[in-house]
Amino acid sequence: MARTLVLLLVLLCSSASLVTSSTSAGAGLRMKLTHVDDKAGYTTEERVRRAVALSRERLASMQQQRGAVGDVSAPVHLATRQYIAEYLIGDPPQRADALIDTGSNLIWTQCATTCLKACAKQDLPYYNLSSSASFAPVSCADSAKLCAANGVHLCGLDGSCTFIASYGAGSVIGSLGTEAFTFQSGAARLAFGCVSLTQIAKGALNGASGLIGLGRGRLSLVSQTGATKFSYCLTPYLRNHGASSHLFVGASASLSGAGGAVTSIPFVKSPKEYPYSTFYYLPLTGISEGGYESVIGNFQQQDLHLLYDIGKGELSFQTADCSAL
Ligand SMILES: *[C@@H]1O[C@H](CO)[C@@H](O)[C@H](O)[C@H]1NC(C)=O
Repeated sequence: MARTLVLLLVLLCSSASLVTSSTSAGAGLRMKLTHVDDKAGYTTEERVRRAVALSRERLASMQQQRGAVGDVSAPVHLATRQYIAEYLIGDPPQRADALIDTGSNLIWTQCATTCLKACAKQDLPYYNLSSSASFAPVSCADSAKLCAANGVHLCGLDGSCTFIASYGAGSVIGSLGTEAFTFQSGAARLAFGCVSLTQIAKGALNGASGLIGLGRGRLSLVSQTGATKFSYCLTPYLRNHGASSHLFVGASASLSGAGGAVTSIPFVKSPKEYPYSTFYYLPLTGISEGGYESVIGNFQQQDLHLLYDIGKGELSFQTADCSAL
């Protein structure tokens, strides 16, 4: 296996500051993450079964991808968005929550005024832009070129910016706007997608209102807040005793000094073409021919603090007691 393999680190998920005018993201953002199985209250036995089923699904999808792109790179993006963060949107604030995704860019939420029957079921009420004083539409020819920053966009007859965002599990369509977002700590004014049509595999949203992308693209939460790093720490999947996982974006992101050895791996340069430009690539070492491929997956990441240092161009990690954060 002398040929170079490039691995995309998948899991949860460049940067000029865009719409951060009235931002208090200076100290960084902090978000509590809830595993979708915690939210749904699955037992340990059910979780083990779900983890096995998900691994099978992932393998099937990787094999499919390999067929599609040859055996050089394997961008994998599918049902691995398993952590949900709650936030507030608008003025007065409305509750919303989102799956966290390192493998995409756009922040979006399903919208009450346009969804009607074309959106997925979610646990919280749909966000209603008509009852928010802080919502503003993004026009198709906006000076910040936010509309053009989305991979696929169209101009509406009324000058609105229509986008399509596609994922392994399906796609969503809506229009781009800006809103006030408040997280567990930290707030920012962000461009986001107000979704009016959701065509995503049933259950893939896990009751969340939308998605938050942490990718390398201009519309990701990381890029929009001008962050040069983010980190997350996941509590054990099967036995977390109710302790939450956390995500930190910007200044608050760090390996929190648990004392263990720090391992750092430089990112491999990402391709320029969309969507490959979205992902963080790592060199893959230690792949074995014997049928066992060692990949950093969710299980290996528990009780590990991972720091994506985009400024430095490296991923670092250290064992940590994530429940202590
Ligand atoms: C959205 O809010 C407006 C203004 O408060 C209200 O009139 C409308 O009924 C709401 N729409 C939905 C779908 O909840």
